Amino acid sequence: MVQENYHNMDSNKNRGRIVVTGGTGFIGSHTVVELQQSGYDVVIVDNLSNSNADVVDNIAKITGIRPSFEQVDCLDKEFMESRVFSKYSGIKAIIHFAASKAVGESVQKPLLYYRNNIVSLVNILELMPKYNVNGIVFSSSCTVYGQPDILPVTEDAPIKKAESPYGNTKQINEEIIQDTIKSGSPINAIILRYFNPIGAHPTALIGEMPNGVPMNLIPYLTQTAIGIRKELSVFGDDYDTPDGSCIRDYINVVDLAKAHVVSIERILEDKQLESVEEFNIGTGVGVSVLQLINAFERSTGVKLPYKIVGRRAGDIEKVWANPLKANTVLGWKAETSLEDTLKSAWDWQLKLNNK
Ligand code: WQD
Repeated sequence: MVQENYHNMDSNKNRGRIVVTGGTGFIGSHTVVELQQSGYDVVIVDNLSNSNADVVDNIAKITGIRPSFEQVDCLDKEFMESRVFSKYSGIKAIIHFAASKAVGESVQKPLLYYRNNIVSLVNILELMPKYNVNGIVFSSSCTVYGQPDILPVTEDAPIKKAESPYGNTKQINEEIIQDTIKSGSPINAIILRYFNPIGAHPTALIGEMPNGVPMNLIPYLTQTAIGIRKELSVFGDDYDTPDGSCIRDYINVVDLAKAHVVSIERILEDKQLESVEEFNIGTGVGVSVLQLINAFERSTGVKLPYKIVGRRAGDIEKVWANPLKANTVLGWKAETSLEDTLKSAWDWQLKLNNK
């Protein structure tokens, strides 16, 4: 049994032990940093299927505290029980990031996505009450809204039929959490619906590490800027938007990580009004692809070669958050400018290429 890791000699500064599944991933690693810097003792659980263990070393370089790390697949319930729940005493809550998250891949491999994303959550929800772990923060996505009828989108907007198996797993998982708690489970949950997470830690020690050719915009953009890719394809400029390109709400990954810390605090300090609360985590500002390219060039001084091509199947036209509920109830607000966020993404790309 691993006792509380009292890295702060003054133990009342240790605010408790938090398990972070997917903690070596993009958003997970940034959240581990913020948790540690807020005084929490962190156990990372990750199967390293889409990340690597060096991230644990780099987190330790940033915070001076090495988080515990267990290479565990959340699909393996018995192994997760022995290596996490029964091994670490006093787990206060879980932040569940671990999931497959590539929209396009989910269309090609739906069963992999349904098994991985849904069974993992079910395993965790079944184990939590057995070890008196009654708090979970769940990583969801604005994808659950599809193309909202009203913008900016609020948490009570209708959940539309998902455009991909990936988006469907997020909707199904939110329902699984709701139904579990309605059934009388002692679990309390906060569901965070992310908009588009981008950027990297200001130290450039952690950031987004896509496998192979990036599907999402920012890694492809910075790889183009540094010369790995020839030019960025802008998927369509014939949408019903001011400049014709799609609009999204790009949220700085460190700001997003901080939303998880305040959510943990809310659960542990028993401040929740409902046993399940949902929050949109976005800036509230819609930015088009072409506007984002201009902001990147302004903030880095790097010219970006791009061309306009046809629309990408499955893309929605425009979405951005109404973040008022998170601002007022969670006391969280996005703080980092788009330009500073894009600069952090560029600095990270330079570091990845040892420039
Ligand atoms: C953003 C915009 C593209 C690439 C997805 C998931 C969402 C979340 C974030 C996990 C769109 C355009 C992109 C390119 C482009 N993932 N684009 N050229 O699709 O908004 O959201 O990732 O939680 O759940 O759905 O993100 O970065 O792929 O696209 O023009 O090479 O950039 O058309 O308008 P998306 P994205």
